[in-house]
Amino acid sequence: MLRKLLSIFPLLTLAFLSLAAPLEPRAPGLIDDLLTGVLSGIPKLIKDILDATVSGRSDQISSKPLSCTVDACCIWYDISAELTMQFKDADDQCNDNARGAIRLGFHDAGAWDKYSPKGGADGSFLMNFGEEKRPENNGLQNIRTVLRGVQSRFNVGYADLAQYAHNHATVTCPRGPRIRTFVGRKDATQAAPSDLLPDANDPPETLIELFEDKGFTPDGLIALIGAHTTSKQRNFDSSPANVGKPLDTTPGIWDVEFYNNTLQNPPDSRIFVLPSDRKLAAYSQTQREFKRYVGDQDDWNEDYAKAWIRMSLNGVTNLGELSDCTKTLPAARPDGI
Ligand code: HEM
Repeated sequence: MLRKLLSIFPLLTLAFLSLAAPLEPRAPGLIDDLLTGVLSGIPKLIKDILDATVSGRSDQISSKPLSCTVDACCIWYDISAELTMQFKDADDQCNDNARGAIRLGFHDAGAWDKYSPKGGADGSFLMNFGEEKRPENNGLQNIRTVLRGVQSRFNVGYADLAQYAHNHATVTCPRGPRIRTFVGRKDATQAAPSDLLPDANDPPETLIELFEDKGFTPDGLIALIGAHTTSKQRNFDSSPANVGKPLDTTPGIWDVEFYNNTLQNPPDSRIFVLPSDRKLAAYSQTQREFKRYVGDQDDWNEDYAKAWIRMSLNGVTNLGELSDCTKTLPAARPDGI
């Protein structure tokens, strides 16, 4: 009897340990791992966008219906009207709030990779987890306050608002893409990891690997950093001559001048070139794509929309519960007027 008990002792110990110490939650992995088998509805649409058989942009537009009982998008018409006021300058270009919202959408969704069981497009940046105090998020405090005001007024999810605001800001900029916009994400229950956002002093190899772990090819990374077309730097270089300098010559317009300007040597004295952008523009794996976008607005907008939809769903697992609320966004202005 004793011999029998001793022989099953290791098995009993293992069973006890697995009950006493639950495993870490499983990381969801890349969105591609969720989009397998026979798909329908929103997951099918997302898969088709990521496969580039359907565009990530859409002109589908409508006005708010009189009765709002069955339309999950209804509240977003009101939020859209509010964000248009917040994001547009008197000259109809996009303003500092718009640039902030574009970057905030990235710093919320981008703080994630395929190994991470937390973070991603979960609104944690807008919530009370203290992410706004991290050095990599310097400069995002104002827009965070603006968007928290919108959240408390309209009572929508933080995760959706961070991504909706990004997409609204891009289309508010003249020539910006009208990116298909999904809502229904779950809000965070904890802060995002703190070491998954890029550093402008990182070499191209590090940046490529960082983005690869988020599901992006080097081409995808080059499409995404084009968002610096509407950007200014205020904290990276704090010398008075450089604070507030734009990263291209037309920061109120979503155009391809960023690619053109960054490739110029020496650069235009009115702009600031981040070391990461300069190095990616010259790096063997990314230079071709960087040059390809010069003068090709439509191609870039299409590639950006596709890459952004992937970014805006980082870590989101309830794809079947999402709704497509693109119709609530303002119209695009492809001619810039
Ligand atoms: C290689 C990757 C990237 C690096 C190293 C990087 C770095 C930076 C830095 C250092 C700034 C200036 C912040 C300041 O001084 O206040 C900045 C601004 C900005 N970045 Fe990036 N970034 C990257 C990718 C992206 C991506 C993918 C987006 C896409 C949405 C983005 C959107 C922006 C925007 C909109 C601003 C301007 C914010 C403003 O003017 O308030 N960045 N970025």
